[in-house]
Amino acid sequence: MMSEICLVCDCRWHSAGTFDVCSRTGGPFGTMRFPAELAHGANNGLDIALRLLQPIREQFPILSYADFYQLAGVVAVEVTGGPEVLFHPGRPDKAEPPVEGRLPDATKGSDHLRDVFIKQMGLSDQDIVALSGGHTLGRCHKERSGFEGPWTTNPLIFDNSYFKELLSGDKEGLLQLPSDKALLSDPAFRPLVEKYAADEDAFFADYAVAHLKLSELGFADA
Ligand code: HEM
Repeated sequence: MMSEICLVCDCRWHSAGTFDVCSRTGGPFGTMRFPAELAHGANNGLDIALRLLQPIREQFPILSYADFYQLAGVVAVEVTGGPEVLFHPGRPDKAEPPVEGRLPDATKGSDHLRDVFIKQMGLSDQDIVALSGGHTLGRCHKERSGFEGPWTTNPLIFDNSYFKELLSGDKEGLLQLPSDKALLSDPAFRPLVEKYAADEDAFFADYAVAHLKLSELGFADA
């Protein structure tokens, strides 16, 4: 049950992270409920999170799917020990899932992360590093992404250990994706990794801001 909490967090991010600032399409609008979006390669395994959430959602039909998935993500971060993230309801459920291919590719580096998070979603360098700290939770599964293993020794606890592990290098049993390692080699990202590894309060504060922004992409004009 607890490991599904990580999938819930991943699910709300994969929903919001499809936002495209130019076409104003995609984003946190409940379209993950459609089999077409769940079938995107990057969403392998998220059906488990949705199956877990569905009976809860049925008890609160007043909430849109869009709000419900985002609220579940806020709760997942909080119950695993992370910061409180503000939540504003009111997202409508949209009928059109986004096109496939908008989520970041774990085999790529900083240019790609900036293309996705800054050019496509409209976020910032600081948001990229803070949100990458979401990998404090959960793990990779060979059968889903091709990668295997957790980022930290406590993958059910939301803390700043992702950044500490990143700085301490490869370790048996733990994993760093190429997109995680890119945070170390980029001159703008690395100082933020060092700051968050040294100061968990600073990480929590910036994470809460970035999570809120991500969860409200496209909300103003929806
Ligand atoms: C920076 C770009 C990112 C890339 C390239 C990336 C890539 C990945 C990959 C390959 C997995 C493994 C999937 C699997 O095999 O099950 C994963 C899992 C996960 N990601 Fe990310 N991710 C990114 C950003 C984020 C963000 C922004 C968050 C949340 C704030 C997040 C939260 C998670 C969580 C919680 C899991 C674990 C899911 C589980 O335990 O099943 N990721 N990510």
